[in-house]
Amino acid sequence: MPSNETPTFETLLLETEAGICTITINRPEKLNALNQTVLSDLESAFMWIDKSPEIKAVMITGSGDKAFVAGADIKELSNLDAVTGRELSVNGQRVFESIESCSKPVVALVNGYALGGGTELALSCHVRIATENAVFGLPEVSLGLIPGYGGTQRLTRLVGKGKAMELVLTGRMVKADEALQLGIANSVAGSKGEAMDRANDMLGKMLKNSPVALARAIEAINSSEQGSDEGYRAEAGLFGSLCATEDFKEGTSAFLEKRKPSFSGK
Ligand code: CAA
Repeated sequence: MPSNETPTFETLLLETEAGICTITINRPEKLNALNQTVLSDLESAFMWIDKSPEIKAVMITGSGDKAFVAGADIKELSNLDAVTGRELSVNGQRVFESIESCSKPVVALVNGYALGGGTELALSCHVRIATENAVFGLPEVSLGLIPGYGGTQRLTRLVGKGKAMELVLTGRMVKADEALQLGIANSVAGSKGEAMDRANDMLGKMLKNSPVALARAIEAINSSEQGSDEGYRAEAGLFGSLCATEDFKEGTSAFLEKRKPSFSGK
């Protein structure tokens, strides 16, 4: 396809205005949960964005007012074993790495629940603007899992080890005001429209600057985290090993059957 033609995707809506491409994850009936199609669509969208000179910046949001992304798709997860679980984690890590290393500024507009993979997606963006009803959190341990799309690494770097331990081990939800205080959100707005105005305003300020300087600044800030491959490898390996446990089967089945899990520790 010619690089200036906006591609279409099964699970994403793309709209470009004044050089800013807004990507809307569009599975509202499943609170925009990340299934494999969403991940592969996101990867293709960012490949297109990277090659498109007319795109200067990106905004990612979720369809509707209730959720940004409610996590990886738990129905899909429930069939994983140790090998396919590790593969799923490595695949998701690669997609999110392609967002983090995008040479154009990427803002997450977090409009509601951003849980599990949703918080991990937001953390892979360069900046996060949240609405007042935004809720962040990494609740994977309640499913017998751990975050598998880079969350154990990126959250720790953003909020520090002690707070990351607290948030990952409790799996508790963090509302917008606390997310702002912790530095998870850069800014909080009253409504989705206001958040969009704020994101456009911030991107407008960024885009007044040299594009090549912006690209190098992103690269330089990302490279402050070099030497981190081991952490991502460990995350994927541990995520995979959990997919072979009884607790994982119980945790995911309990969510899908809308009941509380009863973990045996096996
Ligand atoms: N995967 C699949 N489906 C999901 C989903 C998910 N992560 N989150 C929500 N849904 C579905 C629900 O199953 C429901 O579908 P049906 O109508 O067909 O039953 C629909 O979306 C609406 O959700 P709820 O009825 O649960 O809405 P609610 O308002 O009662 O609760 C919520 C909202 C608190 C966000 C709740 O949906 C929830 O807890 N979701 C799961 C959050 C979660 O655990 N995320 C982590 C996933 S694991 C992960 O992300 C692993 C990783 O790091 C790679």
